[in-house]
Amino acid sequence: MIATDTPLEAEAERLLKLLMNVACDPHGRTWNLETCREIAPLTLEINRLKREKNAVILAHSYVEPEIIYGVADFRGDSYYLSLQAKKSQAAVIVFAGVVFMAETAKILSPAATVVVPDRGSGCSLADSITGEDVRQLKALYPGSPVVCYINSTAEVKAESDVCVTSGNVYDIVANLPSRRILFVPDRLMAENVRAEMKRRGVDKDIISSDGTCLVHDEFTAAQIAEARAQFPGLKVVAHPECTPEVAALADFVGSTGAMMKYVKTSSAPYYLMLTECGLVGRLEVEAPEKNFIGGCRLCPYMKLNSLEKIRDALQAPRPDQIVTLDEGLRQKAQHCIDRMFELAPQD
Ligand code: 13P
Ligand code: SF4
Repeated sequence: MIATDTPLEAEAERLLKLLMNVACDPHGRTWNLETCREIAPLTLEINRLKREKNAVILAHSYVEPEIIYGVADFRGDSYYLSLQAKKSQAAVIVFAGVVFMAETAKILSPAATVVVPDRGSGCSLADSITGEDVRQLKALYPGSPVVCYINSTAEVKAESDVCVTSGNVYDIVANLPSRRILFVPDRLMAENVRAEMKRRGVDKDIISSDGTCLVHDEFTAAQIAEARAQFPGLKVVAHPECTPEVAALADFVGSTGAMMKYVKTSSAPYYLMLTECGLVGRLEVEAPEKNFIGGCRLCPYMKLNSLEKIRDALQAPRPDQIVTLDEGLRQKAQHCIDRMFELAPQD
């Protein structure tokens, strides 16, 4: 039998077709047949385990490309993945992302066993505030609704009135009847919301807590100026977790899903992606004709995911890999996410 007839070789070739354009790799790997042969046994095993266990893998666009293109059933931003979790009929959901995303999946799909590859995959935003902090904030401003960014724990969601994502935050805040809004946990996103409300002529008083994303708060206006000077025609694409100075200088600001759409439909020669590097990897696969200049940064939490850990979580999850939530808390948290689905379009 010739080598290409073996399932392993066929899998390596399938992976190579998908991954060969990924230059922005978190481990500096070059995706060639050799690298694909190394991971093919694992992707085959994971895809077999998925069928055996009636499992689906949801992967955020920031995780490694071999997860996104090798084993994920759904890939995208927080909003898209929450919708998939809500619709899912699978017995097991493996969430390759960070813990707050897996908690959100458990809130929306309580009958499923939801597992995380690595319990240490936190988030500097979600970990910046507790439920007790939100209760204290509410006591200071009684009657004002709490809007929580989805990058928050189930405990914080349970204390909030409505959840938002990077894709719907501006519209939801603009349409809330209350003038004063308590916004947690992202201070920079709150600043961007203030600026956007001003632009739209919507009168809002936004009180925020003090979290920031350790990836997005590092991008600077100077970096944009330098890149624009070097690459005429460059498009700067930013996430709303960036500072308002950076957001104001960007050509487009939106969720990771919207950032991808913007790049795919734009004809500019060069792009500076002010977000996590995983998104650049995705665009190198899905928009290989575009050029990305350096700028993106790694999220250390997202990079804790790996094929090995996904295989282990599917095969026999350790207790620390299984997401459990108190039912009362889950229902309270679900209320604020359901409210988001009512207020945002579900496409
Ligand atoms: P998106 O929902 O836009 O993918 O953002 C999630 C995130 O964690 C950004 O840092
Ligand atoms: Fe959290 Fe920032 Fe990582 Fe997104 S990139 S998961 S906001 S730390």
